[in-house]
Amino acid sequence: MRYSFAIVTIVLSVARAQTRSDKRGLVFVPNKDSPEDNNVWVRDGSDLTWYYNYQPTPAPAFADESQSDFEFVPMLWGSIENTSFLDSVNSLIDGGRNISHVLTFNEPDGPSQYGGSNISPPEAAQVWVNNIIPLKEKGIRVGLPACTGGTGGIPWLQNFLGNCSQLISTEGNEKNCSYDFVTIHWYGNFEGLASHLGEYSAAFPNKTQWITEYNFDNQDLETTQYFYNVSAKYFDRLDSVERYSYFGSFRSGDSNVGPNAVMLNDDGELTDIGSWYLGGTATGVDPQSGIAGRSRVDVLLAITLAVVGSLFLA
Ligand SMILES: *[C@@H]1O[C@H](CO)[C@@H](O)[C@H](O)[C@H]1NC(C)=O
Ligand SMILES: *[C@@H]1O[C@H](CO)[C@@H](O)[C@H](O)[C@H]1NC(C)=O
Ligand SMILES: *[C@@H]1O[C@H](CO)[C@@H](O)[C@H](O)[C@H]1NC(C)=O
Ligand SMILES: *[C@@H]1O[C@H](CO)[C@@H](O)[C@H](O)[C@H]1NC(C)=O
Ligand SMILES: *[C@@H]1O[C@H](CO)[C@@H](O)[C@H](O)[C@H]1NC(C)=O
Ligand SMILES: *[C@@H]1O[C@H](CO)[C@@H](O)[C@H](O)[C@H]1NC(C)=O
Repeated sequence: MRYSFAIVTIVLSVARAQTRSDKRGLVFVPNKDSPEDNNVWVRDGSDLTWYYNYQPTPAPAFADESQSDFEFVPMLWGSIENTSFLDSVNSLIDGGRNISHVLTFNEPDGPSQYGGSNISPPEAAQVWVNNIIPLKEKGIRVGLPACTGGTGGIPWLQNFLGNCSQLISTEGNEKNCSYDFVTIHWYGNFEGLASHLGEYSAAFPNKTQWITEYNFDNQDLETTQYFYNVSAKYFDRLDSVERYSYFGSFRSGDSNVGPNAVMLNDDGELTDIGSWYLGGTATGVDPQSGIAGRSRVDVLLAITLAVVGSLFLA
């Protein structure tokens, strides 16, 4: 779908080469009240090459996108007692979709009230053996579970790997549960991000990293934009960073990471960060501008009063 604009894209990418990257993907957080926002991420010229939606099946909103243009990456979110994830990915493949990567366990070390899947390492290891190992054997590249940015993440993963090894090893034949890349979340400043990636490299050496949720949440606009700028440059420069996805594909009024961290204002227009992330130039759109996401009741009331007022004046 973006081929018709390939020449324009090439010309523009010379002008602002430092802002474009094929590592970038979408953390898809749809809002059913503003489905028009879904089109923003896949419009002509968008840099985004892949997405995930925390689920095993693709988002209906992107049904028209081809897997090679906008790669869907299935995620095994949390605990399941069966092979429903494996079965679901296999049926996508049987249907002709080229699934080449999967993500596993959203914040298993985090409590469910903050969106974590809150699952113990031994339990997750059993789910992995049932669902992930068969996909890995098919040649699909698999990510280590995506822990929170907290200090419990690496110990959780080390326990998980040890527990997983126990499940598949036999007397005298030790085996490890293998994975292809390490998946990382981070909320905080740039120095913290860089040191977090370093800790992961030390704990899980010789693997590429995917940063699948990150932001400097709840900051003023300049701090947020500075963080965005330096982290994007850093990820683009490092060969060890294979892919990254900024957490903020929603409107300011819907944000749980602060009003400035978002890629859309309350009318669904791209903010500076949103536009930079897609490979464009600054829009000057204040994240907190727009009315659609604010109290619709207030807006309706204002319109009603204006209409009533104008009737009186007439
Ligand atoms: C698989 O397990 C999950 C929860 O563990 C359940 O919701 C789902 O219905 C099960 N699927 C099948 C096909 O049994
Ligand atoms: C499937 O996708 C991967 C990358 O995501 C690519 O390297 C591979 O060539 C694709 N295979 C087919 C058959 O299109
Ligand atoms: C695996 O799980 C058990 C809990 O069942 C835990 O006590 C153990 O230390 C874990 N870690 C490793 C590395 O085996
Ligand atoms: C399994 O992983 C552990 C910890 O990284 C390592 O010490 C061990 O040599 C590995 N075993 C095999 C069979 O690869
Ligand atoms: C990592 O890779 C380097 C060089 O590629 C190699 O020397 C080293 O042994 C590897 N480390 C592990 C833990 O596999
Ligand atoms: C972020 O980068 C853009 C250029 O891509 C620049 O115009 C802007 O001033 C930078 N902002 C900060 C706070 O670094």
